[in-house]
Amino acid sequence: MRIDIICVVPELLKSPFEASILKRAIDAKLVEVYVHNLRDYTSDNYKSVDDYQFGGGAGMVMTIEPIDKCITKLKNERNYEEVIYMTPDGSLLDQKIANQLSLKGNLIILCGHYKGVDQRVRDHFITKEISIGDYVLSGGELGAAVLCDAIIRLIPGVLGNETSALTDSFQDNLLAPPIYTRPRSYNGWEVPELLFSGNFPEIEKWREEQAYERTRSKRPDLLNE
Ligand code: ADE
Repeated sequence: MRIDIICVVPELLKSPFEASILKRAIDAKLVEVYVHNLRDYTSDNYKSVDDYQFGGGAGMVMTIEPIDKCITKLKNERNYEEVIYMTPDGSLLDQKIANQLSLKGNLIILCGHYKGVDQRVRDHFITKEISIGDYVLSGGELGAAVLCDAIIRLIPGVLGNETSALTDSFQDNLLAPPIYTRPRSYNGWEVPELLFSGNFPEIEKWREEQAYERTRSKRPDLLNE
């Protein structure tokens, strides 16, 4: 998989890819991630990538030309399956969307800034609009980092233990059950006895019940999906 991220604050997209699982995935060539600075695609002397809103109104709008130049250059080099725009009014990111995107070949992710992009960008270039939550960030970069993390960890081979992504919360519309490790007793706080029984069918049953109970109490909405 190859992901090209187009943005105006590339610094924000450095560290997420320089540590831990994402770095390992890149080093192992399971994914390539390229960050493009929109200012490199403007013909404006001041390298500006935004302008005033037609019709008045507070806030600047990202102009179409540098975005067109960058997306068109990339598309001339290879095929992309999705051109995603990070925006608070996009579809809410969930595990299902992450699963679907993890199966794709090449993706472009455009990060919004200021008030967002000229509507014609959305009309003519964007194939999917994604929000990471019902709140407004200063820009789409951190959202893009979240989206990339959610996608990349699902690529086969990225997580050491292949099953661990399958047992994450949300994979089956249930939250994950409680987990424990050593020490067995801490401050008198004990680990449930059953986990030491060696009775794996019973342990599995207990985990399923716990997952269900946790989902019912914390996120009942997931049970109705
Ligand atoms: N840009 C600004 N807010 C955002 C959000 N909630 N999700 C994705 N991109 C954004």
